Amino acid sequence: MASTDRPTTAVVERASVSDIPELITVWWDAFGSEHMQRIFPQTPDGRIWLERAFKQFFAPVKGPDELKTECLIVRSPDTGIPVAIAIYRIVPEGYDTAKQTWRARWPAVDDLPDFSDAAVDEFFSRMEKAHAYVLGNRGHVFLEVLGTMATFQKRGYGTALVKWGTDLADQLGVECYLDASPAGKPLYEAHGYVEQDVPAIIDNQSSASMLRPKKLQA
Ligand SMILES: CC(C)(COP(=O)(O)OP(=O)(O)OC[C@H]1O[C@@H](n2cnc3c(N)ncnc32)[C@H](O)[C@@H]1OP(=O)(O)O)[C@@H](O)C(=O)NCCC(=O)NCCS
Repeated sequence: MASTDRPTTAVVERASVSDIPELITVWWDAFGSEHMQRIFPQTPDGRIWLERAFKQFFAPVKGPDELKTECLIVRSPDTGIPVAIAIYRIVPEGYDTAKQTWRARWPAVDDLPDFSDAAVDEFFSRMEKAHAYVLGNRGHVFLEVLGTMATFQKRGYGTALVKWGTDLADQLGVECYLDASPAGKPLYEAHGYVEQDVPAIIDNQSSASMLRPKKLQA
């Protein structure tokens, strides 16, 4: 049965600054592999970096032609605490690719000794090359982060967060893009994302570049 057919308690809402401590808990739980912890340490420095990142996401957008970030959550129906998170970037048509680099979207790590700038740069840059190859500067909805806490997975929360983005893209008449982990790929395929053929020279090997075509307007 497709995930979209199953009953779910998921309610998608926008997160706010007061949710930041719980958002960090969700992030650390969903992205707790050894590989991810080497890049994004689960230490006081790692917490400072994520606090800065979320504050940046909640800051007002400077103008209509700027990149807009949406930080969405699903809360546990029992406790009301966020247990799943999605971070979307709404990329305007013709947006300057130089402004799309991770250094423009995420806080710097230079003053945080637990981080390696080279490791973070390698993590993001590989995906950015494939992203730019597939989309150039076409406007699109970019699902940059999706994670559900392990004990809340397989309840349709990821599905609801993916659907939020595809519904928005259909309203705007634009494509959707994401870099998929093996865990997320089936979910994305169920929502119309298709893996893209990216030349080996820029293929980042660890994730799949996935594009969802724009919906044909009736
Ligand atoms: C990928 C991830 C976000 C999916 O989140 P999720 O909340 O478990 O997603 P869903 O519950 O909507 O769907 C997951 C599976 O559960 C199934 N499912 C959905 N609702 C269900 C329900 N009510 N009962 C049982 N199973 C259900 C879905 O069919 C889906 O199955 P599939 O993988 O065979 O397609 C989550 O596994 C995760 O955070 N992984 C670690 C981080 C990661 O890899 N993130 C993706 C980066 S691209």
